[in-house]
Amino acid sequence: MNDLQVRLKIKAAKAVIKYVKDGMVLGVGSGTTITYFIEELGKLVSKDNLEILAVPSSYDTKFKLVEKGVKITTLKEHPNLDLAVDGADEIDPDLNLIKGGGGCLFLEKIVADAAKEFIVIADESKLVGRLGEKNPIPVEVHPFALGHVVKRIESIDGKPVLRVANTGKVGPVITDNGNFIVDVKFHKIKDPKSLEKELNMIPGVIENGLFIGMASRALITTPQKVLIKTQK
Ligand code: A5P
Repeated sequence: MNDLQVRLKIKAAKAVIKYVKDGMVLGVGSGTTITYFIEELGKLVSKDNLEILAVPSSYDTKFKLVEKGVKITTLKEHPNLDLAVDGADEIDPDLNLIKGGGGCLFLEKIVADAAKEFIVIADESKLVGRLGEKNPIPVEVHPFALGHVVKRIESIDGKPVLRVANTGKVGPVITDNGNFIVDVKFHKIKDPKSLEKELNMIPGVIENGLFIGMASRALITTPQKVLIKTQK
């Protein structure tokens, strides 16, 4: 990450803080942008002594929230979240997303779905004309089903590649939920909504990184401003 990217991520994290109100139960996504959001949230909670609870979408987010003094809860205690905040790998003009670059898509989709409002925060490099332009679609797969899921994805013209850890472990990345990730390239994604459903219909697929029609708002930072986009 270069200096400008860091500055834009911090700017996005600061911009979303004004949507956080006392008494809220938040869903908190994962990734580098969200790490800056957690820092801002920690400052807000300690400065104004706010009663905020958070449902984390990964171990990483959980540990960071605890470190910053933000109280943790679960969907069992709080199934209705007031607001979910998360980053994204790609954002299209309709605020459809690709997520899962950090391997946390499964819990991220659950907290986004459990929330009254889902706001995505990102720097402008995440904007695309069409999903899949730059990134493959991450698909979380139960290990037992790997070969089957790969075969089924290839039959719909996807090119699945098993994600392999590049540090700290040999072999496949294992998600927080004990599963594999396959990153799937498609030549052109014409109908992301159907593809999201089609992938999830394959037995053995736990979840995929297409987040269609979920984000109600996106705060996108450029060096000059914060662009606020809302779902039409
Ligand atoms: C985590 O699995 C992802 O969905 C992240 O939200 C996404 O990859 C964005 O990450 P950064 O904020 O690190 O760019």
